[in-house]
Amino acid sequence: MQDLLNAAHNLPQCLDPAIFFGVPTVVQILARFNIVPIKKFRLSQLAMYKITDECHGEIAKHSKENLSTDEESARDLVDLYLSAAESRKKADKKTFLTENTLKGVATNVFAAGLDSTATMLIWFVLLLTKYQDVQKKLREEVINVIGTGRLPTLKDRDAMQYVHAVMQETHRFVSVAPMAMFHMVKEDAEYEGYFIPKNTYMISNLWGMHHDERIFPKPFEYQPERFINDAGEFVKSKYVTPYGIGKRVCPGEVLAQRELFLFVTQLVQRFELLPAEGTGTDSISTDGVYDGVGFFPPEFQTRFIPFD
Ligand code: HEM
Repeated sequence: MQDLLNAAHNLPQCLDPAIFFGVPTVVQILARFNIVPIKKFRLSQLAMYKITDECHGEIAKHSKENLSTDEESARDLVDLYLSAAESRKKADKKTFLTENTLKGVATNVFAAGLDSTATMLIWFVLLLTKYQDVQKKLREEVINVIGTGRLPTLKDRDAMQYVHAVMQETHRFVSVAPMAMFHMVKEDAEYEGYFIPKNTYMISNLWGMHHDERIFPKPFEYQPERFINDAGEFVKSKYVTPYGIGKRVCPGEVLAQRELFLFVTQLVQRFELLPAEGTGTDSISTDGVYDGVGFFPPEFQTRFIPFD
């Protein structure tokens, strides 16, 4: 498992678009076979092999153990998938739920879903440690709605306004995938008077939109309140799109938003986050590092003080 996590963590760091899109396709293919030695290609390939191997192994193990698994006793995504595929088969229905598709789904969850979500979680910890007032307000809402007797669940989401504002503002402020993924126009196109020739790379500048002061006044300030209206309700902004724009928007959005909600609410319910002993909130910087794919937080230290 540790190897799998390492591979998922290493993968995005090898996927530098400047290299991938600046290099002619034929060289890319040669690099894939290690004929032209481009280190980042080789590393990304090794990481992908590792993720694929581990996922395929797990699926084979699950298939042997669990063919009769029902939804109630499913342990994970693979169990659920296999049980859905099995019932489709039994009902003699055509299905896309094949083992091959499952392999693709499982590999995607690790290759695209793990590091992105984990990085956002670390950003949450950083920002909540730095902005103690936000942390306090967030905790007040969680305690008011849920108390301390049980953990938050997804059913609690509608009752929380400030939590959503914090989540949206954190996505805006951080923009963990600042340029999303590059796409190519397959045919000549025109958009708002601009001619876009076939084979042009298109980049969605999510970071630029998230920091456009015509849309978000004082864009470099972290202010969840900007998404709370006078009635104290959360206001969703169509200009905060951390999961991309258009048809190829991130397919993991729903899962990631659920994970982030549970993580953030459980975290502030159970712990007080404080800067390292002897340091203040000023010591925490928000200057992250963009590696060509993701925007990663700088090093920082947080103390997690559990509530009794
Ligand atoms: C905070 C968490 C996440 C963020 C901010 C994020 C963001 C993004 C962005 C910006 C893209 C590019 C969209 C585009 O092409 O314009 C993308 C693609 C993708 N994401 Fe996520 N993602 C997250 C979590 C996940 C999770 C949990 C999964 C899977 C379980 C996932 C799976 C994928 C896949 C497979 C693609 C490529 C889709 C394609 O090829 O069209 N992501 N994501």
